[in-house]
Amino acid sequence: MTNRVFSGAQPSGNMHLGNYLGAFRNWAKLQDDFECIYCVVDMHAITVWQDPEDLKNQVREAAAAYIASGVDPSKSILFNQSRVPGHAELAWIFNCVARIGWLNRMTQFKDKAGKNRENASVGLYVYPNLMAADILLYKATHVPVGEDQKQHLELTRDIAQKFNNDFGREMFPLTEPLILGEGARVMSLRDGTKKMSKSDPSEYSRINLNDDADTLALKIRKAKTDAELLPALAKDLEGRPEAQNLVGIYAALMDMSRDAVCGQFEGKGFGDFKKALTDVVVDKVAPITNEMTRLMADPAYIDSILQQGGEKAQAISEPILADIKKAVGF
Ligand code: ADP
Ligand code: NA
Repeated sequence: MTNRVFSGAQPSGNMHLGNYLGAFRNWAKLQDDFECIYCVVDMHAITVWQDPEDLKNQVREAAAAYIASGVDPSKSILFNQSRVPGHAELAWIFNCVARIGWLNRMTQFKDKAGKNRENASVGLYVYPNLMAADILLYKATHVPVGEDQKQHLELTRDIAQKFNNDFGREMFPLTEPLILGEGARVMSLRDGTKKMSKSDPSEYSRINLNDDADTLALKIRKAKTDAELLPALAKDLEGRPEAQNLVGIYAALMDMSRDAVCGQFEGKGFGDFKKALTDVVVDKVAPITNEMTRLMADPAYIDSILQQGGEKAQAISEPILADIKKAVGF
């Protein structure tokens, strides 16, 4: 079997440094060793309200962020989910394979629906089944996962296994996680215990990939820290989540270990460290921002990439979906 990677991000605006360090830049690294399929998951995005006019542009912006981060459309398949109807078809079949108890255990629904659970969309609830369909429509063997997606991949494996059992055949692989290193989880700049997220209402919680240098500097200056100095070893940052996060960002961007960063700044306070961090963030983010701006100036080009990627994804998924339907009895 080919080693095939599937991954995606929601086009819900505000692509941020967490997306880059936890996902996009790793996607780029995988391109030489795997057949990679990278999807802009617009069908996931509408599980919460998206303005239809904005959505189109956000799909392009997500694609631009992937490309600016190193995803190469000539090496990988890059498309948006709603172009390939198999995602929705397979998700329906999986709605009938997955058990309600399995979905009730998903922590992300609880987080995203918040207190007003009765008023969340049904789509938000069955979202993990659509994600399983995204992966298994291509029989992906590997999925790069951040901490936040681990539970969803386990559900995907449960669905694959139950389908294989129910229909008495080895239809689906048990997709393996690709565990990522430094930078796998970037936290909010305002609260080191929450992950940096595009849905965080505080602009200062997140470094957006389209922030200009002044905005980046301001956000880092305002980032929450403490009055203590940097220790020699990263383990001595325990109990200081904000400090840990900033050191982690520096380490990830510089491809250094956290210990090496602490060693370099040992005995310095966060005033000094933030200045160095600002330089590094500006240095690494500015080229991405510039490339995104350049790409967004030519929406027809991005649309043509998505169109071609959609055709390739359709061609891979068609025979797989035909097999699945036959197994189900359609
Ligand atoms: P968000 O959680 O901001 O809405 P998505 O759910 O669309 O973003 O996630 C897209 C990808 O980016 C996923 O692979 C996810 O694991 C990764 N990701 C999102 N936020 C972070 C973060 N704070 N740190 C590391 N990776 C992240
Ligand atoms: Na997420």
